[in-house]
Amino acid sequence: MLSNKDKCGGLTQEGVNFSDNATLHEVSVERRRILKSTASAVALLVGSHSLNEAWAQPSSNSAHRAVGKPLGFTAVPISMADNVTVPPEYVAQVFYRWGDPTGLAQGAPAFKTDASNTWQDQSLQAGMHHDGMEFFALGKDHGLLAINHEYTDDGLLHADGMKTWTADKVRKSQAAHGVSVIEVTQSQGQWVQQIPSRYARRITANTPMVLSGPAAGHSLMKTQADPQGTRVLGTLNNCAAGQTPWGTYLTCEENWNGYFSSQATPNADEKRYGLRPKGGGYRWHEHDSRFDAAINPNEPHRFGWVVEIDPTDPTHIPIKRTALGRTKHEGATTTLTRDGRVVVYMGDDERFEYIYKFVSRDKVKPGGFKANQHVLDHGTLYVARFDSRGYGRWIALAHGQNGLDAAHGFATQAEVLIRCRQAADLVGATKMDRPEWIAVHPDTGEVFVTLTNNSQRGAAGRPASDMPNDANPRADNVMGHIIRWREVDGDPAATEFRWIHFALAGDPLAKKAEHQGTVKGDLYGSPDGLSFDRNGLLWIQTDISTSAMHKGAYEFVGNNMMLVSDPATGETKRFLTGPAGCEITGLAFAPDQKTLFINIQHPGEPDSERSDPAKPRAVSSWPDGQGGGRPRSATVAIRRKDGGVVGT
Ligand code: FEO
Ligand code: CA
Ligand code: CA
Repeated sequence: MLSNKDKCGGLTQEGVNFSDNATLHEVSVERRRILKSTASAVALLVGSHSLNEAWAQPSSNSAHRAVGKPLGFTAVPISMADNVTVPPEYVAQVFYRWGDPTGLAQGAPAFKTDASNTWQDQSLQAGMHHDGMEFFALGKDHGLLAINHEYTDDGLLHADGMKTWTADKVRKSQAAHGVSVIEVTQSQGQWVQQIPSRYARRITANTPMVLSGPAAGHSLMKTQADPQGTRVLGTLNNCAAGQTPWGTYLTCEENWNGYFSSQATPNADEKRYGLRPKGGGYRWHEHDSRFDAAINPNEPHRFGWVVEIDPTDPTHIPIKRTALGRTKHEGATTTLTRDGRVVVYMGDDERFEYIYKFVSRDKVKPGGFKANQHVLDHGTLYVARFDSRGYGRWIALAHGQNGLDAAHGFATQAEVLIRCRQAADLVGATKMDRPEWIAVHPDTGEVFVTLTNNSQRGAAGRPASDMPNDANPRADNVMGHIIRWREVDGDPAATEFRWIHFALAGDPLAKKAEHQGTVKGDLYGSPDGLSFDRNGLLWIQTDISTSAMHKGAYEFVGNNMMLVSDPATGETKRFLTGPAGCEITGLAFAPDQKTLFINIQHPGEPDSERSDPAKPRAVSSWPDGQGGGRPRSATVAIRRKDGGVVGT
């Protein structure tokens, strides 16, 4: 059992949702009978579609369901080796490691293998802990990669780690966060970073940004440094990502609470978002009062947003889109409604948090960012309720509706958005097992979400809403699962959906009933990254925490990995395994589908998540080897040796 070791983004996902909104759920009498034991619930729910009556109903898009596709590669076995392994028909090329030059006009000092680069150097180099990533085509074999740098291992970032703690170390940590935009071209199978590049950009925790949408300018957003409540410095803990139909990058602020110290007695908002009086492990507040909420109580309200960046314009000021709500955002996956409006699907990754979608008021217009720069400021934010028997509902988080009014503590829509989690509690959203990435099938429009794990599901002392339910059926859910849903009538604007499990991760033969899975083919656990390729194959990346790996329920799994699954058959094959102590993340395809870019995050991460600077290669020396310096997160381009489409 992982106890409180369910982690992501450098922080334990302890869970701060102690609301009990179960009474608002539609739990049938029969369902309660079925839930007598978790094991029987799993067998009944997953083994039979007949119990999932909603899914069995015909829908307008079910006719498009594809027949099985060949997964035309040699599966790789599980591995504990300190390398990236791909099928023998493929090659993997590593580039843009932590500390490599971004390609800015002013150049960048060489990476020093003892991590003695200054904070000024770091602001010109690749950040740490690469995560979500999108590819923006500029032409054939030519494009931009926007790459998140989620968090830092300060044991590796500074020559002597955190032995001493100084303002300059805080600045270096801040400079290693944020986003990179790099320019890449491909020739004869090799991707080359353009240096210098007129597009190259490093966005950090100190880059000027604007707030827009209903919460911009609200009194809760005003600080001494920004009396208007419209300008903010930086973006933090950028986890997964998305791309708008008009070609901009969406980067998502996940565990931003870990950078702040709360007020001496945390208020309700600080508690609901997990701020603590003595601050997070990053210790920024000790040298930068912006991160001390006792001094700047509104600064934390300016984080937890989805941020829009135009990757083609290095002078573009990033925009925090408040209409999409303030949570611990995992990703932001877009699609279009039937009438041409944009929909953004988003998970809030913590135990017992929720799944959201934003539906814009306005239609997407031709003309790129310029023509669509206000689309993400107006629309309706919904939260998901997963009812029994495969039914589901989107509940609007709109002021004046569903009890979201002054009498319940929400005076305006701005307050609904700033205290988005509390609004979702009030309307009776379904508490999920850590919602991570969301992927939309390119043909059917079906939506898939990874629920990575939740060891506290069903734990003693939790409220009734934290017990196993139809959508999250396993107590002690250390393996995680994947749910798929169809919007009613195939329209992403719908307010109802029909859902079913795609897979419960884990070994079907596991000793403990709670850990038994339904995966067909190669086994995995803790699914996190998730994306469809254009051919409709589902790519799944895992993030088993280093403290859980190779033990107990995870003995069989090996290092983190990437797999490919056919949604028509459920057949799953392992495509890649990563180096020791890493997470696999950042899924982006070149437009011709002949290159797949991924990120290797935190190779060498020890159980404590903070490396010992005296033994930096204790767990991993990837990618530079034992003769190199410290392990480094990096981007990997994967191609077929014969130049064909990947996955097929
Ligand atoms: Fe940063 Fe939830 O993964
Ligand atoms: Ca994760
Ligand atoms: Ca993740």
